[in-house]
Amino acid sequence: MVNEISIEIKGISKIFSSKRAVFRNVNYSFKSGNIYSITGQNGSGKSTLLKILAGVLSKSSGKIEWIVDSMKIDNEVINEFFGFVAPYLNLYEEFSIDEIVQIVADIRGIELDLQFINRMVTDFGLEKRTLDPISSFSSGMKQRVKFIIALLHKPKILLLDEPFTNFDELGKQIVTAIIMEIINQNGIVIIASNDKDEIEICNKNLSILDFQ
Ligand SMILES: Nc1ncnc2c1ncn2[C@@H]1O[C@H](COP(=O)(O)OP(=O)(O)OP(=O)(O)O)[C@@H](O)[C@H]1O
Ligand SMILES: [Mg+2]
Repeated sequence: MVNEISIEIKGISKIFSSKRAVFRNVNYSFKSGNIYSITGQNGSGKSTLLKILAGVLSKSSGKIEWIVDSMKIDNEVINEFFGFVAPYLNLYEEFSIDEIVQIVADIRGIELDLQFINRMVTDFGLEKRTLDPISSFSSGMKQRVKFIIALLHKPKILLLDEPFTNFDELGKQIVTAIIMEIINQNGIVIIASNDKDEIEICNKNLSILDFQ
């Protein structure tokens, strides 16, 4: 049972090949039980910071420490702690939900908790569509599938880039309930956003503009 988690960002900078820094010397601490928004105008570096946190983009300098119950977590196992949902992450659309869940579980070495998956699929209203190819889904349904996949390994931390993208009111409510469940279990949720509805559910804010 995990009690306390923190993500410590220490002096992170990102410079793309254009040589212009997107942000410099970001210092910030994300702590258990909080929902953070990362805000700033278009092109300010919100997604860049989230991608660096998720390990899909390298940083130019600085370091990030993931600490669970006072223990620093090795880079190789950090993936076990978070789920990542973003508009630019693509699904394997030729597969069905049942297939993709199995594929992702195999890749990540997760033992499938079928009861948990069935509950998520039902919560997201996709229980009648588990055998259809994802390519046949609407954009909001695809966004729901991204959440199911990100939650498969029951992460304590969620990294979300514009999570309400393509969602109707019900989709927003379902994801808000999932976020609250993670927070009630002392997890961390980080949302890169400029959307009022997304920012409203956050209780802390990191303005990327403070580091430009
Ligand atoms: N792969 C890349 N190569 C060069 N520059 C990049 C790359 N990815 C992002 N950038 C630049 O970094 C800056 C920040 O982009 P980023 O996508 O992080 O912004 P954002 O705050 O998420 O914007 P939005 O609100 O539009 O989502 C932009 O100037 C962008 O052009
Ligand atoms: Mg972005």
